[in-house]
Order: sequence, then structure tokens, then C-alpha cells
Amino acid sequence: MVQRIEGRVAVVTGAASGIGLAIADRMAAKGVRVFMTDLDPGALDAAVAPLVQRGDQVVAAPLDVRDAAAVEALAGRVVDRFGGLNIAVDNAGVVNRGLAWELSSEDWDRVLQVNLWGVINCVRSFVPRILATGEEGHVVNIASMAAVHPQERLGPYTVAKHGVLGLSDVLRADLLATGAPVGVSVVMPGSIRTGMNPVGRVDPDDVAVNVMDAIERDRAYVFTDHHSTGAVRRRLEAILAARDDVISPGQPDPEPHV
Ligand SMILES: NC(=O)c1ccc[n+]([C@@H]2O[C@H](COP(=O)([O-])OP(=O)(O)OC[C@H]3O[C@@H](n4cnc5c(N)ncnc54)[C@H](O)[C@@H]3O)[C@@H](O)[C@H]2O)c1
Repeated sequence: MVQRIEGRVAVVTGAASGIGLAIADRMAAKGVRVFMTDLDPGALDAAVAPLVQRGDQVVAAPLDVRDAAAVEALAGRVVDRFGGLNIAVDNAGVVNRGLAWELSSEDWDRVLQVNLWGVINCVRSFVPRILATGEEGHVVNIASMAAVHPQERLGPYTVAKHGVLGLSDVLRADLLATGAPVGVSVVMPGSIRTGMNPVGRVDPDDVAVNVMDAIERDRAYVFTDHHSTGAVRRRLEAILAARDDVISPGQPDPEPHV
């Protein structure tokens, strides 16, 4: 949780378009110093120009989140430039479609590298900088409804986003266990109108509004719209109900830890 967001330092991945740009834009407008990064340097330059013109304190640098060494170097640059780091928005993502058994291992790898390993790389490089800064901090991991609602032909994306949900929960527990004043939000947008999803119904700025609120109020699970609410409920209820079907349950766990 970061109660007073003005003047803090944030890094945003995949900030050249869509959801990442909307978050960077809204943060910068509120006085956050934002280090914007993206794989696409041309798109990044075009995205950052109006913010600079507005007088915002933003810096941009290309970054491929699949490259752990590059993420580590970038984290160092953020601290060198702004003197610390408070907020990491791990947003960069790609999607592909196909039947799980027909997609090639390269197809699986591409999406897992960006959407899951990208977030792991960011956590490994950004969280130590947030901790070293010694102030309130927050990590925002952009997952998807695919983290809780598996859909056909979205195997790699769904696996990656489930991973981001699990990683976010573990990260929150790890930070709590060490007493660090750093919160974690995992964001599960539905159908957002961006380059990845041009037919999306929700404006990326609606995601940004929820992300800002999640940082300030430490919301762990962040939904941005009412996409597939019934399907998510049915899935979670089915998982819970399956516990009643255990054939030989044995003794109940004396200290359930879930
Ligand atoms: N649009 C939706 O409906 C929707 C729904 C749920 C979740 N999301 C998630 O939101 C995030 C942002 O997606 P978006 O909809 O804004 O898409 P987008 O395509 O508009 O933006 C994604 C950005 O990530 C960048 N990127 C791609 N690969 C990268 C890499 N290896 N390293 C760094 N940057 C890279 C792209 O250049 C692009 O600027 C993604 O994680 C996506 O999975 C989107």
C-alpha cells in the first residue's frame, strides 16, 4: 500500500500502449515519477512524448521483460535516475490462440516467457529495490480473467496468468512474513479495448483507475469490470464442492493452512 502516491517512483512494463500506457498516464498526471518501459522503442517514444509535453516527470527506456539481465539493469537505472523505487507495475503481455495439443512448444514458450517469466524477472529485480528504498511500496501484477476463468484455445495465456495469480499470492505472503510495508495487487481485467483486444468493451483508463485505487487501499484481488462473474463463481464453487467427493478423507487436518 502507498497511501500518498504523489511524488513516488514507479516503473511500468509494456507502457507504450493499452493498459500499461493508461496506468503510466494516470500515475504521471498525479505526480508520480514514472519510468516507462516497453519492447517497442518507437511506440514508447510516441507514447511518452505527450506526457513530457504535459510537464510530467517521466523517463522511457526500451526493455524486453524476457531478458532477466536487462530487467536487472533497468531496475538499477530507475534507482539511479529517481533515487529509489516504490511501485512496480508488471504489465507487459502477449496472447496467442490454439488447441492446447496443437500449439508448438515455441508457441507455448513465447507466451510463458513474456507473461510469466517476465513477471518473475520483474519481481526478482524490482522488489529488492522497493525494499531497499525503505518506504511504503506496492507491486501490481497484471494478470487477466484467464487467471480464474479458463477459456478454450487460450492454453499458454491461461497457464501464464494462473501463474501470475499464484506468484502474487506467494509474494504477498512472503512480504507479510518479512514485515515489509509493501503490498501486492493482482489485476484481472476482462475485455479491455487495446491493441491486444481491439474489440474489448472496457476503456483501459477504467483499469488504470482501479489500479490507482488498489495501490492506495491495498486491494489484493482487483477486478476491473464484470466479465464472466457467473462463470468464475461456478468454477470456484465446483472446486470447493469437489472436496465433498473425496472417497477416504482420513482425519481432518488439525491445522488447515489454506
Ligand atoms: N486487453 C485485454 O482485454 C486484456 C484483458 C486481460 C488482461 N490483459 C493484460 O493486460 C496487459 C497489457 O495488455 P494490453 O491489452 O494493454 O495489450 P497491448 O498490446 O496494448 O500492450 C502490451 C504492451 O506490451 C509490450 N510488450 C510485448 N512483449 C513485451 C516484452 N517481451 N517486453 C516488454 N514489453 C512487451 C507491447 O509492445 C505492448 O506495448 C497484458 O499482460 C495482458 O495480458 C489484457
